[in-house]
Amino acid sequence: MRDKLRVGRLLAVVCLLAGLVAAAVPASADVRIVGGTRASTQQYPFVVYLAGPDGFQFCGGTLASSIKVITAAHCVKNQVPKDVIVVAGRDDKKNRSEGLEVAVKGIWTHTKYSDALAGHDVAVLTLATPITAYKALPIATSNDDFAYAENTDATILGWGRTSSGGSTSQYLLQAQVPVVSDESCQSSFPKYNSSAMVCAGYPQGGIDGCQGDSGGPLIAHGRLLGISSWGEGCALPNKPGVYTRVMSYYTELMQQIKKPMP
Ligand code: ARG
Repeated sequence: MRDKLRVGRLLAVVCLLAGLVAAAVPASADVRIVGGTRASTQQYPFVVYLAGPDGFQFCGGTLASSIKVITAAHCVKNQVPKDVIVVAGRDDKKNRSEGLEVAVKGIWTHTKYSDALAGHDVAVLTLATPITAYKALPIATSNDDFAYAENTDATILGWGRTSSGGSTSQYLLQAQVPVVSDESCQSSFPKYNSSAMVCAGYPQGGIDGCQGDSGGPLIAHGRLLGISSWGEGCALPNKPGVYTRVMSYYTELMQQIKKPMP
């Protein structure tokens, strides 16, 4: 149960409760989470994972500059920098010689963050040494508002669980999920807040993020649109994944990203 320790109480409650709910529902034919296709960090050089000092992967993240990683607040809340290692350029978690392991020297979590269901689930890590070989992904601005429209085709990436309650993926996986309208997501989740969140998934379920994917990107039009935040089970019908609405945090994120190395 070390993941509970690693990612903190909230993550454990949200994600493990979600897992229990999902486990109680009869398994559908394909509750494969990230859609089951392998992806490469060569193709997505900005995607990283967060690990503990022992190498245990617990969340995802996105490089916003050579020294800044955007992730979910619930991934790193109550953690100190030395508890988090950023791993870039490694598709296979078991291949510890691949890519880079970089220490973290600063953790910013949104000042209004309390728990993922209440929104503001965004954090920025400052790396101890720059990653120059791996390209950053631009974040969504107000000009990208159109991309939050229903049915925008978006990509999710992560090393999280490949089924509800199952084990996490050894390899980076990707899936395509359409953006869900605010009205529809509101009816799926009474706690949905359209200024802080955006949903993506299929009405029939089947493809979704899952535990361990949190903090990782939802991408469309070459921009970071969302940060994997929460859900109910994984890939269930009418229960899309919920992502932090990056555009809403543009100003605060840019302040953090532009902060020079102290
Ligand atoms: N809270 C989960 C985590 O920390 C992410 C859950 C995403 N769930 C979903 N159905 N999309 O990894």
